[in-house]
Amino acid sequence: MSDKVRIGIIGAGAVSDYHHVPGINIDPRCELVAICDPNEALLEQRQKEWGPTKTTTDYEKIAADPDIDAVIIATPNFVHREQTLACVNAGKHVMCEKPLGLNFQESAEMYRAARDKGVRHMTAFTYRFAPSMRYVRHLVQSGQLGVPRHFRSQRFLDWPETSWGWRQYKHLAGAGDLFDMTIHRIDFSMDLMGPIKAITGAIAQFSPRDKTADGESCEPSEVDDWSSLIGQFENGATGVWEGSTVMKGHHNNGFGYEWAEVNGSEGSAAYQLTDPNNVIIGKHGGTMEKVPVPDEFLVIEGSPRPGNEGVASTVFRYDLVWEFVSAIVEERDALPGFDHGARAQFVADACLESFENKAWVDINPDLG
Ligand SMILES: NC(=O)c1ccc[n+]([C@@H]2O[C@H](COP(=O)([O-])OP(=O)(O)OC[C@H]3O[C@@H](n4cnc5c(N)ncnc54)[C@H](O)[C@@H]3O)[C@@H](O)[C@H]2O)c1
Repeated sequence: MSDKVRIGIIGAGAVSDYHHVPGINIDPRCELVAICDPNEALLEQRQKEWGPTKTTTDYEKIAADPDIDAVIIATPNFVHREQTLACVNAGKHVMCEKPLGLNFQESAEMYRAARDKGVRHMTAFTYRFAPSMRYVRHLVQSGQLGVPRHFRSQRFLDWPETSWGWRQYKHLAGAGDLFDMTIHRIDFSMDLMGPIKAITGAIAQFSPRDKTADGESCEPSEVDDWSSLIGQFENGATGVWEGSTVMKGHHNNGFGYEWAEVNGSEGSAAYQLTDPNNVIIGKHGGTMEKVPVPDEFLVIEGSPRPGNEGVASTVFRYDLVWEFVSAIVEERDALPGFDHGARAQFVADACLESFENKAWVDINPDLG
């Protein structure tokens, strides 16, 4: 290994540009050395925007390249499994975007492959890194809210009702809002409250998305644009989740609306994506009030990111790369790992199963 962790990115689209490349750029311990995407015009554009690197349209070349130590996989969901397995089997550390696979079986296979090969693995569950999310977790775990009783999350986006591209076809995406948005909330609910015991779920589709933004006809969407779950955690607490991508009036410059809250026997605490450097806290008999997140929770340990600079709803996302590279350098597990990605996917799959069978589903993922 060179003195820096040499990173290759597979999938040079929106999320790589928004989260991962800025994260690499502020981390002096790593460097971007290669980009892979089938879109050659995009590769050329990214070379100009991200700086010169090797480029390829073939992900196998990234997996086989001895000058790459770690890979970030940010491609459409249906290729996560094959690309992760290729990179892991070649001994690369991998951070893969969520949902890890098209279903729990794929995600669990990815986890076992990385575990058995002894490489670092991470699922890009971004919102765990929001300052107020980290502080709410601290309040729950240090007992300051008393015994946790309820978890609640709402994630609303006001997206155009035109084609969602690969995201609207089951064989490419798996599911819609459920796998794109709600799966993050399933993950952080378990990070806050512990394992989920059982859920019942529902999905719905309101928009056919049968036109592109340019007005061309396309195959209609096959996936949900609204998803919801009611659940019980193993600790006895209840959970309620709701997500939508067609929630009018919640555009908010693209950030949408997000609220997640824990209610304990002594008090309540809430996170908002639109104000992640503050939490809303209330104690028994009092009123919910906005309180700044203490400085030590603004960035993850060691991150060079100035906690109070930049667009607060955006910049915490850069800490994903910091955690991934820290795990590689410190030779420890990354958090959240592929095991967390697989467990969240079990719950998301259970939502689809529950809706289809009109029944509650026990959550008992066997990762093998
Ligand atoms: N963690 C988060 O907060 C977050 C946010 C957005 C997207 N995502 C996830 O990131 C992934 C990518 O989403 P996006 O919004 O960047 O999508 P996107 O469509 O903007 O980008 C995907 C890129 O992958 C490329 N691609 C397609 N097939 C490929 C292949 N076989 N090999 C290499 N590259 C290929 C496409 O050409 C495109 O450039 C998805 O899994 C999505 O769920 C996560």
